[in-house]
Amino acid sequence: MWGGRFERSLLPELEEFASSLDADQYLYHFDLQGSVVHARALQKAGILSGSELAEIERGLQQIRTEFEGRSFAFAETDEDIHTAIDRRLTELTPAGAKLHAGRSRNEQIAFDLRLYCREEAQVATAVLASVVDELAAKAEAYADVPMPGYTHLQRAQVVTVGYHLLAHAEALFRDIDRFAVAYENAEKMPLGSGALAGTTLPLAREAMARELGLARVTENSMDAVSDRDFALDLVYACVSTSIHLSRLAEDIVLWASSEFGFVRLADEIATGSSLMPQKKNPDIAELIRGRAGRSLGAFVALATVLKGLPLTYNRDLQESKESLFAAVDNVLQTGEAAMVLVEHLDFDRERVTAAASDPTLRATDAAEELVRKGTPFHEAHEEIGRLVRDGGFVPPWDVETSIAKRVFGVAKRAHAIRRKVARVKL
Ligand code: ARG
Repeated sequence: MWGGRFERSLLPELEEFASSLDADQYLYHFDLQGSVVHARALQKAGILSGSELAEIERGLQQIRTEFEGRSFAFAETDEDIHTAIDRRLTELTPAGAKLHAGRSRNEQIAFDLRLYCREEAQVATAVLASVVDELAAKAEAYADVPMPGYTHLQRAQVVTVGYHLLAHAEALFRDIDRFAVAYENAEKMPLGSGALAGTTLPLAREAMARELGLARVTENSMDAVSDRDFALDLVYACVSTSIHLSRLAEDIVLWASSEFGFVRLADEIATGSSLMPQKKNPDIAELIRGRAGRSLGAFVALATVLKGLPLTYNRDLQESKESLFAAVDNVLQTGEAAMVLVEHLDFDRERVTAAASDPTLRATDAAEELVRKGTPFHEAHEEIGRLVRDGGFVPPWDVETSIAKRVFGVAKRAHAIRRKVARVKL
């Protein structure tokens, strides 16, 4: 590709180190899409004839078929997906040698990654929507089952199982917005940026963007080829989702313990021990919890690649791909596992209700009842605290009344959430 300037090629022992072909498999679809649009723009600019364009389009289509049929043959010298496609196209048609006019791999990779991020933001949204829907469905099923709510992992106030599940649903519901932001931030077309400083060829960038269904074009070519903020945004959405799924998983691990005994692990979502015959373990929840590390690691790796890079393109940016793909794959796989896990959650209504019947979980309600009758809160707190300490505390209401006064609207909120995610879920 740069044969003219070079007398010798890269040492074979460095070829694999420099190659990004493995990671690039994720991108061939977008690279071909960008090439078609670039070819059409070259034709409109008078660089390609109508028949050359037709040949290029036919060649690119042929290459697509080869990729889809897994018959595309990479050459030793293919450094990345862009060089591989360009090399193959030139084999298929002499017009292929004209396609790279006015463009650079630096803009191609920025373009491919933006389209990848846009698409995966949508896929992740669908997976998340399904997890949220399962959580809200469970919340509906257990809307009124009393349960202790915890702070510091100490029983605090009585809530319901449905309310607790909805708390997890709300967190993941917010992540859907994060993916929407990532989607929007990816939606800018960098084609026409060249290596860093644009091109003298008259490419109609707005028209190219329209053809791709992209809302906007990038404004500054130097920024466009070195910017990976959109990838960082998507990976952050993955990190946030992973954190939330991990916290949900941790609750499930606790609930499944003999000490809590709040959920029964169905055989289909549990694993046993090769040594201890009696064991039933929440491995799936633990894996979901453990997997959060991958997303967070990917975020740190990506941010570390970006920090300190001088403008514009530097080869370090090649390293941004692995982290991005790892975080996205991780969140999709974890989300799908979480969806199944939640679907099979089976609460032991009696045990949860028994745990919630501890009268001291209504001590705060009792203090507030005194406040309603005119006692200053600090005095009420003191008075109820003393009764609890001396064993003479009697709650003002039964559990149901206590819950009804604070934790209401579970079914209504669950229903509203389910309606909102219905359109995007898997
Ligand atoms: N393989 C490179 C990447 O993934 C593509 C761009 C290469 N550009 C360059 N000037 N070496 O980032």
